[in-house]
Amino acid sequence: MSNYDIKDINQSEGGRRRIDWAEREMPVLRMIRDRFKKEKPLKGLRVSACLHVTTETANLMRTLQEGGADIVLTASNPLSTQDDVAAALVNQYEIPTFAVKGEDNVTYYKHIRAALQHKPHMTMDDGADLVSSLFFIEMGRFEKLEPSLGAWAKSLSGPERKDLLKGVIGGMEETTTGVIRLKAMERDNILKFPIIAVNDAQTKHFFDNRYGTGQSTVDGIIRATNVLLAGKVFVVAGYGWCGRGLASRVRGMGAQVVVTEVDPLKALEAVMDGYQVMPMLDAARVGDVFCTVTGDINVIDGRHFEVMKDGAIVANSGHFNVEINIPALEKMCKDKPNLVRPFVDQYTTKDGRKVNILGEGRLINLASAEGHPASVMDMSFANQALAAEFMAKNADKLEKKVYSVPQEIDSEIARLKLEAMGVKIDKLTDEQLKYLSSWEEGT
Ligand SMILES: NC(=O)c1ccc[n+]([C@@H]2O[C@H](COP(=O)([O-])OP(=O)(O)OC[C@H]3O[C@@H](n4cnc5c(N)ncnc54)[C@H](O)[C@@H]3O)[C@@H](O)[C@H]2O)c1
Repeated sequence: MSNYDIKDINQSEGGRRRIDWAEREMPVLRMIRDRFKKEKPLKGLRVSACLHVTTETANLMRTLQEGGADIVLTASNPLSTQDDVAAALVNQYEIPTFAVKGEDNVTYYKHIRAALQHKPHMTMDDGADLVSSLFFIEMGRFEKLEPSLGAWAKSLSGPERKDLLKGVIGGMEETTTGVIRLKAMERDNILKFPIIAVNDAQTKHFFDNRYGTGQSTVDGIIRATNVLLAGKVFVVAGYGWCGRGLASRVRGMGAQVVVTEVDPLKALEAVMDGYQVMPMLDAARVGDVFCTVTGDINVIDGRHFEVMKDGAIVANSGHFNVEINIPALEKMCKDKPNLVRPFVDQYTTKDGRKVNILGEGRLINLASAEGHPASVMDMSFANQALAAEFMAKNADKLEKKVYSVPQEIDSEIARLKLEAMGVKIDKLTDEQLKYLSSWEEGT
């Protein structure tokens, strides 16, 4: 394979313009890039990144490159790539990029193979597909890999397979689902190097998951369907960070919001935030638009499709395309779905109802829209860049565990973001500091 695989290199000028546009909203990452340019904290390190190939990711890649890293970038989802950005990364920034919007599973894993062949010192994942592939190969569990990747891995000698992992000093993980998988690997003693859970930084999930997913998911659903949300019954499955953001945004647009949950605490929070809370089977009967954001499997299942209204719109914004059981819906239909608009597959059930699945059940904010706005990715990717620097300096002191982003990094990013937004805050006085650290003052 050559050192890139993208749709069309001629789209690079448009991609560069959009990368520049995003950069204007990413002041914290810009500051980090300026420092990285001088200090080169990643000098000599090969980094394999498996991320959504968007304008914001391009700015992160430029930052790592300025820091001295030798990077390869692959898509972390078959539908999230922005082809013009991939072209600009290759043509304007000379970053080997392997990503084509709409790529099939075989191509997706062919691209992951390119990231593995880069023999990374550091991994940067969004969903842990890169790291899990690396570990399956090392363990010889080829049956768990996509067949063509498995065949390639099998063709390597034992030492060659071990070699893929040998140089890795550590990795970073971007999203909730990836962190859950990596913590399970740590628990099962599978994890072979330290990971920093970028998702768990407060300056990441408070903003990216909540406001980023909230806004961009609405954007994705509207771009795909152009439906009016005012007056609709909008069902949000999962009231975690993403679900809270989504529910508040669609309420703001005039929808009646129904929340479904499995965690009593989150369900209670949703009730007190003023939403109707009910099981999915009840919600399925009343909903006009559905969106899952749970990280769980088959949240909308066959029995829910059985009772849905004619014309229901169903989307997912959780990481993997397993939250909506599309195979179960297929079984309820005589024919294949019709693509009635880009990203809208219309299924007709045997009893004549139409059910519209958006973006093949993949995260809709990246499939039919552009993903999170740059302003929130500024903080997420500032965490990625600083976590990479931290890993480069400290990997030898870390165990094979999933670590949080150090608190100092989190606080510093919040401080820099406020500064860039021109927002000033108060400082504790000496008297207040003393009061807050004392137990002696009472009634
Ligand atoms: N679309 C994006 O750009 C984007 C951005 C960030 C995170 N994500 C992904 O979104 C998903 C959710 O992330 P999060 O940070 O909100 O996670 P979270 O853990 O904060 O929230 C998930 C919620 O879903 C609930 N849940 C689990 N199973 C359920 C079920 N069967 N029915 C109803 N609720 C259920 C959980 O109780 C939890 O409250 C993850 O897959 C994450 O990787 C996507």
